[in-house]
Amino acid sequence: MPNAVITGWGKCVPPAVLSNSDLERLTDTSDEWITTRTGIKERRISHVNTSDLAAVAGLHALAAAGLEPEAIDLVLVGTCTPDRLVPSTATMVQERIGASRAAAMDLNAACSGFLYALVTADGMIRSGAARRALVIGAEKLHNWIDFTDRSTSVLFGDGAGAVVLEAGDEDAGILAAELGSDGSAADILCVPGSGTEGAPSATAKATIIMEGPEVFRRAVSAMGDASVRVVEEAGLSLDEVDLLIPHQANVRIIDATARRLKLDPTKVFVNIASYGNTSAATIPIALAEAVEEGRVRPGGNLVFAAFGGGLTWAAVAYRWGSRVEPIAASDATLPHSTATGVDLMQPNVDLHGTGV
Ligand code: ACO
Repeated sequence: MPNAVITGWGKCVPPAVLSNSDLERLTDTSDEWITTRTGIKERRISHVNTSDLAAVAGLHALAAAGLEPEAIDLVLVGTCTPDRLVPSTATMVQERIGASRAAAMDLNAACSGFLYALVTADGMIRSGAARRALVIGAEKLHNWIDFTDRSTSVLFGDGAGAVVLEAGDEDAGILAAELGSDGSAADILCVPGSGTEGAPSATAKATIIMEGPEVFRRAVSAMGDASVRVVEEAGLSLDEVDLLIPHQANVRIIDATARRLKLDPTKVFVNIASYGNTSAATIPIALAEAVEEGRVRPGGNLVFAAFGGGLTWAAVAYRWGSRVEPIAASDATLPHSTATGVDLMQPNVDLHGTGV
């Protein structure tokens, strides 16, 4: 049975920034509250759709792996914000990047979506159902956000990250994984009216609702417990963990997970200040940045952990392969836009008091 090894990595974050001070002008919040309670300073707001973000991230990952799109036989997109329910975002990406041989499907496990997708693709490669998979986490969450609701509006952002997963005999890949869910608590984090049950009313748009403190409590417990279990199952001691790359929902959840693993802060990758919570995209974006910044060493032991709507959670112990440099670079970019984060998020708000 082959191993499934990450050979390429990439990300795509849209250019428009929405800062905490922008939010101070839109809702009853403060930079001080957001920074101290979440660790977020700014987030990106997308002028394009989820599939556009996903395709650009995917092209960067393919270049890093030194592969042409035709080499891919599976495109798997973790997302809870697809462009459309049909067709899947993955088929749009498949067509956009020219992965003409690939099967394509979406997977929705909310913020745990990328790790669910990674474990699914890993299983398909080990079983022989696929040899090379492009696994993407991509979200355009701001569509589901009511920016006057301070309990959620300050948390989320848009973006995408991707990896190429290839069959190989290198001593690398997933060492242990745990995927979990608890549908009995689904209502504490959900988007009512976003599917066949219909919109909440003729005029109201569907938005994320969340019991923040309860989600927080469950995230701390599930991410910490699952991380410890996958490290044990992988046969590693805690001090053999080289880097934790956690879902970026709240820096206090990240700190608590790191404490459960008894990790020094230098062994934890945190970029939440720049992007906020991009749901399924946080881990692949963070992974791409960790590799680019030299934080991932050949043969290094990584732990990924996530928690999100469903409720779902996931943890993966992963041994990195030998290559930490990209084979090539892609010049794929999003279409140019000069729109600001505020323009994109709430075009009708009169921020400047001009009445225009
Ligand atoms: N600005 C200012 N004050 C605020 C804001 C804000 N943006 N939001 C809440 N407050 C106030 C509350 O009204 C409350 O005031 P009160 O004491 O007068 O009633 C006070 O701050 C404390 O509110 P809490 O909700 O208890 O704040 P908490 O410290 O729990 O932080 C947060 C809230 C950031 C949402 C936190 O609970 C959290 O991170 N939860 C987990 C989020 C998460 O992990 N989501 C997972 C995945 S998302 C997905 O799957 C799509």
